Amino acid sequence: MKEKLLQLAEKHGTPLFIIDHDKIRKNYRLFKRHLPKVQAYYAVKANSNQEIIKTLFNEGASFDVASYNEFMQVYEYVRHFEEKQKDFYIWDRIIFSNTIKDIPTLRKIKKYKPLITYDNRDELLKIREHCGTAGLVLRLKVPDTGSQVEMSSKFGIEIADAYNLIRESFELGMTVEGLSFHVGSQCTNFDNYSSALQITSQIFNDSRQKGYPLKIVDIGGGFPVPYDSTVPKFEKLASTINSECKRLFPKDVELIAEPGRFMVATTAILISEIIGKARRDGKIFYHINDGVYHTFSGVVYDHWIPNFHAFRQGTKEVCAVVGPTCDSFDKISVSEYLPENLKIGDYLYTHNIGAYSIASSTKFNGFDGAKILHLNN
Ligand SMILES: Cc1ncc(COP(=O)(O)O)c(C=O)c1O
Repeated sequence: MKEKLLQLAEKHGTPLFIIDHDKIRKNYRLFKRHLPKVQAYYAVKANSNQEIIKTLFNEGASFDVASYNEFMQVYEYVRHFEEKQKDFYIWDRIIFSNTIKDIPTLRKIKKYKPLITYDNRDELLKIREHCGTAGLVLRLKVPDTGSQVEMSSKFGIEIADAYNLIRESFELGMTVEGLSFHVGSQCTNFDNYSSALQITSQIFNDSRQKGYPLKIVDIGGGFPVPYDSTVPKFEKLASTINSECKRLFPKDVELIAEPGRFMVATTAILISEIIGKARRDGKIFYHINDGVYHTFSGVVYDHWIPNFHAFRQGTKEVCAVVGPTCDSFDKISVSEYLPENLKIGDYLYTHNIGAYSIASSTKFNGFDGAKILHLNN
């Protein structure tokens, strides 16, 4: 594998972001095999590369979008196939799951009669005024303890307020189609899912009993990626979700999910290049041609800890690996165990960098982002 990576780096230059579409298909199929009753709406925010959308669409995925641009990116792609798929129905393909949307966005998506999430009364009134054609999914606040990225401090209605908002939504002439939650990203504490499903079922069943016919339960994202051997197995989580859903919800419930990182994190490798080497306060600093403003943005925004591997052998010591910009904040890792004999022009590679990486890369200091190479697409 190392040999192939070296060849690709030589051929295409670095930084080189290599996406393996066979792995995307493998992840999608793993998800569907273990959660056969759950329709996967891939969270485009994890990596919005069009080729990824194409591969997942061909596998049968739907999509979770967060902005007008993401909405149109998916919509245009799906519409392209509309003629072949006569029964194309937008809710089957897209959920707009950003709970807060600005007014221009609502006005623009109104004509598509979208399925959208919300989590408070002001948003309800805004949606009703500017996008009255929408079907609604109410996002609940659920436990997110121990997840790599917590969500519940910013999103989700308090459970005690949920039923009243559902009733008010119907009274205002809107239709609440279902409920959603997100247990936090890279959730390794599976109790979060059990609690969230329990909470959701109470509101779901209660609403139905009182005459509000909810249909959808959206179990969000959070499905953990095996970044290391301590991460509990997805299969175990899937089995819990399956049994809890069977126990808690009526047979006709429509289950959907919004997996992001699970589909793409393991599918990409980045090859970067050492462009400078200095000893600072006794520690070797490897300056490379990619950093936290670019493909390693996940270090900042995703609380992600990357791994680095060298192609050259040598005595290892604790080194720092830093990005190319003039900002001292641009440090990817200050304690990476790497050979001390690496030279300028040597390459490093980093696994599991497919999610929340190029998605939030900037042009800071005038550096271009990594070149993207697709394999097996
Ligand atoms: C609303 C929503 N759905 C889905 C996701 C995807 O989450 P994950 O990558 O943990 O699967 C996110 C991530 O931020 C999100 O905000």
